[in-house]
Amino acid sequence: MRRLPLRRLGPADAAAFHAFRLEGFARHPRQFRVAVEDESGLTLDAVAARLASEHVVGGFDGDGLAGIGGLSRYPGAKLRHKALLWGMYVRESARGTGLAGAIVEALLAAAREQRVEQVLLTLAADNLPARRLYERCGFERYAIEPRAVKMLDGYFDELLMIRRLT
Ligand SMILES: CC(C)(COP(=O)(O)OP(=O)(O)OC[C@H]1O[C@@H](n2cnc3c(N)ncnc32)[C@H](O)[C@@H]1OP(=O)(O)O)[C@@H](O)C(=O)NCCC(=O)NCCS
Repeated sequence: MRRLPLRRLGPADAAAFHAFRLEGFARHPRQFRVAVEDESGLTLDAVAARLASEHVVGGFDGDGLAGIGGLSRYPGAKLRHKALLWGMYVRESARGTGLAGAIVEALLAAAREQRVEQVLLTLAADNLPARRLYERCGFERYAIEPRAVKMLDGYFDELLMIRRLT
């Protein structure tokens, strides 16, 4: 299967990243804890600053971005051994290509480089493709948060997962 090219995104990718992330929120409202309106008003300068300070990876196909995911180290002397993996979104046309796994592995490699000891993430409890992806990449479920997210049509639970690196 063809492997799509992957690289770290930087401030110059702000417009493409912002549009792609909002597309993910709009197409998959139940899979994300962030609502479109939470980020649609962000300025491109704010998005660029985020891309400069956090480790965001993007995969590309002929149309531009095809998948994204981010890693943020926790601030604070007592929490710096941990990072959060966030914002995984692969456009439907690029699913099943291995891109999603390659993005997660690239983020785990970045975590190791930063000497992060464990990576955490959350996902909607009924999001089976995401759960399978993360399990394949070595994440284990350690808790479930009932009613973690509230939407107009009800609540949904989230799974909390961890990947130990040391
Ligand atoms: C989650 C996501 C990034 C995974 O990308 P992907 O390209 O589908 O990933 P994979 O091809 O590795 O598939 C993941 C697994 O889900 C399985 N799968 C795919 N569709 C499925 C479905 N409808 N039901 C159950 N399992 C499914 C695949 O077979 C694979 O399992 P395997 O490892 O046993 O083969 C992508 O589906 C996506 O962007 N979804 C919408 C946004 C989202 O949910 N983001 C995650 C937020 S935590």
